[in-house]
Amino acid sequence: ELVVQTKRVGAEIQPTMYGLFFEDINYAADGGLYAELVKNRSFEFPQNLMGWKSFGKVSLKDDGPFERNPHYVRLAYSGHPHKQTGLDNEGFFGIGVKQGEEYRFSVWARIPEGGEAGKIRVELVNTASKGERQAFATETLTIDSKEWKKYQVMLKPNVTDAKAVLRIFLASRPTVDLEHVSLFPTDTWKGHENGLRKDLAQALADLKPGIFRFPGGCIVEGTDLATRYDWKKSVGPVENRPLNENRWQYTFPHRFFPDYYQSYGLGFYEFFLLSEEIGAEPLPVLSCGLSCQFQNTDADAHVAVCDLGSYIQDALDLIEFANGSIDSPWGKVRAEMGHPAPFNLKFIGIGNEQWGKEYPEHLEPFIAAIRKAYPQMKIVGSSGPDSEGKQFDYLWPEMKRLKADLVDEHFYRPETWFLSQGSRYDNYDRKGPKVFAGEYACHGKGKKWNHFHASLLEAAFMTGLERNADIVHMATYAPLFAHVEGWQWRPDMIWYDNLKSVRTASYYVQQLYALYKGTNVLPLTMNKVPVTGGEGQNGLFASAVYDKLKDEIIVKVANTSDKAQPLTLKFDGWKKKEVLSAGRCIKLASADPDMDNTIGKPSAVIPRESDLQVSGQVLNVNLEPKTFAVYILKK
Ligand code: AHR
Repeated sequence: ELVVQTKRVGAEIQPTMYGLFFEDINYAADGGLYAELVKNRSFEFPQNLMGWKSFGKVSLKDDGPFERNPHYVRLAYSGHPHKQTGLDNEGFFGIGVKQGEEYRFSVWARIPEGGEAGKIRVELVNTASKGERQAFATETLTIDSKEWKKYQVMLKPNVTDAKAVLRIFLASRPTVDLEHVSLFPTDTWKGHENGLRKDLAQALADLKPGIFRFPGGCIVEGTDLATRYDWKKSVGPVENRPLNENRWQYTFPHRFFPDYYQSYGLGFYEFFLLSEEIGAEPLPVLSCGLSCQFQNTDADAHVAVCDLGSYIQDALDLIEFANGSIDSPWGKVRAEMGHPAPFNLKFIGIGNEQWGKEYPEHLEPFIAAIRKAYPQMKIVGSSGPDSEGKQFDYLWPEMKRLKADLVDEHFYRPETWFLSQGSRYDNYDRKGPKVFAGEYACHGKGKKWNHFHASLLEAAFMTGLERNADIVHMATYAPLFAHVEGWQWRPDMIWYDNLKSVRTASYYVQQLYALYKGTNVLPLTMNKVPVTGGEGQNGLFASAVYDKLKDEIIVKVANTSDKAQPLTLKFDGWKKKEVLSAGRCIKLASADPDMDNTIGKPSAVIPRESDLQVSGQVLNVNLEPKTFAVYILKK
């Protein structure tokens, strides 16, 4: 028996309660959400032709038009009409293109000698066909200036190909120089030119997130300080955003991607814009001057507290970039990029998953400077990784002392942990910072990959987040994205190849919580005992909320047991005339707990909705084994 205390409308549920955490891991940015199809478009990878294959007379130059990306290629006539000069780009695990769609090829080019115009021929080539490799989209561009200029042409493939190659031929006697070679679908999310892959951005929007944390994760910190995410390099014209090494190039000996770099094409402007377009509050996280301690505990991987000046200035400048007037130096940069209106940034994170006494020492001067300049800004500190809670025990009191507004906790833990943490937040200090459960995922049964059972236990655990919404103000599953051919870490929430994507069962759990988060917590009892989570009762975990905008009572129940369980839902404090008038139920279940959605079978585990027959003041239902159910009820 579940009794919802409908007359004791409790804590407000923050609009930021459920959201998204984006990190460029598993080819989440270049090769993923960022729709650029050319790898190493500026020839700045350490081996400058990585991702490219050249033929004929191709040479590399380094005095190009973009200061921070000086390399480019020179294509010279081979000396014989049947010998070709040019180069192929392999894309990210191939170049995925769809029949009938349009792709914008663009390039900065010049004819270095002037005079007669040069020509290049641009082709999409099918690599899958046995034998002959066929070009299936071809266009020619005339390069008519001795000065660097941007040229573009549309390619319209007449077939769909997940693994095409982009081929560029020199098609003239005059020499041609090429820089920043780019290929984008025109059909990006919201049609932006430097845009995002539509299906992936749509999946984010469909979750109706309240918060969007970016750009990491360990990416914030880098493998070392030199490779930390530097937001200032990620804004302004894309041609001049420098390359950065990706900290996830190398993860444990068995996952190594030597060509995994960050183009910064998906930079802070794009992150802010995406947050706005999906209706989420942006939460940028910046380096606190400590490199990824997970990797590196050397003293020289840390900036001394007295030398943090430029790091703190980066944080202040970021707030100006997001919110400053167009007359301020960084507000002007934002306006020139196309967004004169402020992004209305309210939250900023300093440091990711840091630990040890260095972290609070480093955080303190950031907090002082940000508070002084922007007293309304909410500052998110970190409590380190969850190594059996030890870091948390040390860092939470420190975060309280420093008056951080929220503390970001991370836990990637097994099923037993998720089953035992339903009451995790019941006894957290109500006088300290609020909780941001910023990275979590259930790593089930020794299987570190997505499957339904892990998502069910995440749903059970999340009842505890919801019941404690007075202190838990944000929660985001992690990691968000993974390319099926380029992952370093799993489970992940959304998987994709070059053409298609798939939402996992964990995605649907997050979505159900976000869509039905309500506005206020409602206390409830299970078999006369207040629901506090813990290990659940008979494997049942539950929470209830009220949505005052829709006047709905929403009860979420995860049945983690192997038995169907009869549930009686009652509503405490109702007068005689108060009766149920409408109800529906959305369930996520799978007969096979190991099941998950795949690109080939994207709907194996999806929420299913049905109407409930309601009357009177009590709802009797039977909740199937291993099922997460959301009951949406109206008086
Ligand atoms: O999500 C993957 C990694 O897990 C993040 O980069 C880091 O914060 C955590 O250790």
